[in-house]
Amino acid sequence: TAKLPSWPYSRYIAHRGGGRLAPENTLAAMRVGAQHGFTIFEYDVKLSSDNVLVLMHDDNVDRTSNGKGPAAAKTFAELAQLDFGSWHSAAYAGEPLPTFAAVARYTVANNIASNVEIKPCPGREAETGAAVALAARQLWQGAAKPPLLSSFAEEALQAALEVAPELPRALLVEKVPADWRERLVKYQCVALNINQKDATRELIDAVHAAGYRIAAWTVNDPERARLLLDWGIDGIFTDELAVIRPAA
Ligand code: G3P
Ligand code: MG
Repeated sequence: TAKLPSWPYSRYIAHRGGGRLAPENTLAAMRVGAQHGFTIFEYDVKLSSDNVLVLMHDDNVDRTSNGKGPAAAKTFAELAQLDFGSWHSAAYAGEPLPTFAAVARYTVANNIASNVEIKPCPGREAETGAAVALAARQLWQGAAKPPLLSSFAEEALQAALEVAPELPRALLVEKVPADWRERLVKYQCVALNINQKDATRELIDAVHAAGYRIAAWTVNDPERARLLLDWGIDGIFTDELAVIRPAA
């Protein structure tokens, strides 16, 4: 059997920092994830119009803030004026959009690992991949665990590979492609991150036999989580931090 790449991460990954318990991709979410005992957080990173790396999932700010329109058209100063907490609950009113740098510093200072999902604004795939990887190299210098960089955008992974080959990468896929091995080789990945619906014992075994790690998003049913962990999956991303969590 193939030797598996280093994977210094817990198998329980807090999705978007705090799952459904806090506004996603904010520092408040990170604090909630930490309070629940998680030691690795997934979060989504993109560029503002003036090239500041920020945490945001959607292309538009509408769902997760009190603003409107594409994030790609806003400067960091404009994004920083928006409320990214009230949509979730009144307790988080006024929560700001965090920069990638602020979240990196928070996680490193608190001994929390990161899965940085590169989520580029449309058309900015390569530059976002390069920007995240270069920033990550700086921000995690001397840190105990390297950040795992992942993306659905293969151009972003390619750019990350070119500028910071030493940082571990994962290929994110909506559907498992027949040629997943070739793609993992191409971007020199350590892991394949799949939709949990596609997770089978056979696929987990095949990915391991090929010499790669495998993780699945988003696992919110505790029985499903137990099954995937029993099958030997290397990571599950969850929104249900109070229920699906590392043993205390
Ligand atoms: O990185 C895992 C997962 O976050 C991918 O899907 O849409 O939640 O970013 P999404
Ligand atoms: Mg994500």
